Amino acid sequence: MTDKSTIATTFDADVIRKDFPILNRQVNGQPLVYLDNAATSQTPQQVIDTIVEYYQGYNANIHRGVHSLSQEATDAYEMARKKIQEHFNIAKSQEVIFTSGTTHGINLVATGFSSFLKKGDEVMVSAMEHHSNIVPWQMLCERTGATLKVIPMNVEGELIMEEYHNLLSEKTKLVFCNHVSNALGTINPIEEIIEAAHKVGAAVLIDGAQAAAHIKADLQALDVDFYVVSAHKMCGPTGVGMLYGKEEWLKKLPPYQGGGEMIAEVTFEKTTYADLPHKFEAGTPNICGGIAFGAALDYMNSIGFDAITQYEEELVRYATEQLLTIDGLKIYGTAKHKTSVISFNIEGIHPYDIGSILDKLGIAVRTGHHCAQPIMDFYKIPGTVRASFSFYNTKEEVDKLVEGVKRAKSMLE
Ligand code: ALA
Repeated sequence: MTDKSTIATTFDADVIRKDFPILNRQVNGQPLVYLDNAATSQTPQQVIDTIVEYYQGYNANIHRGVHSLSQEATDAYEMARKKIQEHFNIAKSQEVIFTSGTTHGINLVATGFSSFLKKGDEVMVSAMEHHSNIVPWQMLCERTGATLKVIPMNVEGELIMEEYHNLLSEKTKLVFCNHVSNALGTINPIEEIIEAAHKVGAAVLIDGAQAAAHIKADLQALDVDFYVVSAHKMCGPTGVGMLYGKEEWLKKLPPYQGGGEMIAEVTFEKTTYADLPHKFEAGTPNICGGIAFGAALDYMNSIGFDAITQYEEELVRYATEQLLTIDGLKIYGTAKHKTSVISFNIEGIHPYDIGSILDKLGIAVRTGHHCAQPIMDFYKIPGTVRASFSFYNTKEEVDKLVEGVKRAKSMLE
């Protein structure tokens, strides 16, 4: 653990912001206040430089040519895999599969499990999942005849763990849960979820998309079977992500896509598959994206996750207090353990209208159901305004958000 007194003197959001060129721009004539980090984070110059260096210096296909550029690109790509392995404390580099993002990783696993499930088996999701962690499992259930069960949540936006334990049985084969809810910010008790699932012999996939920029997960300590993330939520580019799978599972699962790179030998009679991780990496991957993902991890680790977590906790606490000073404002998601996201509405006003006025003031938030319609149904609302924070946001920006919401309220009431 980093000493907290060090954090106070070394963590300076104003200095960090200088790394992000986009934060200097204006939107609708106002300085940009970017509070849509749960949708995608911004990209520091260090990562932009990595992308430019790749295309200017060594753009080539990997694992294929004997020529020097191909070797340089291959080395950089495999180095990025190593960085991901180290960052998430993964035992073996072949357990790191490059994907196009979280959704790809989930679909790879859901499709792979088709031949392992049968009628009577059960799979379980939490009540606060993103659509990407619901729909692939519904499709899996349609293919196999397995039943989808839902771990319910309470009004604070916390999973009802007693119900979870009651739902688990020897019929449960898979459990899926996000580490952090994208719509509510709840940090779920994934340690308990994983341990209890394993006791009944079920595998667990954790969607780390919303957690990875805020919490450094130790995947060996968690003993999780699968963990998925997207680089673009953690200062990397879009179109690249990671699927972690325990080697024993990845060996059992069939390939997701066929093509080049994922084979050992091809004849018209029979094809044999490559070893891990290549078995799951058909076709030319997002080479530059993978390398830039590694650079994004270097960048975030140079700031330090203890410092990031501590700073963001303070920022979210401040934003919560300030927003609650506004009459009629209600926050959805008041879990004891939460991070980085504040979803709210103002009585009698549609979230879209608030979001549109905030945009005119240069403040970027997301409005709507946040790809989590079951959560909105639970609260019986059409959607929320969602402000989501990163370590480069400041209290001054929170103040602008609060002023902006007050202004929107006065115009719309
Ligand atoms: N999953 C992203 C979000 O929550 C797109 O906004």
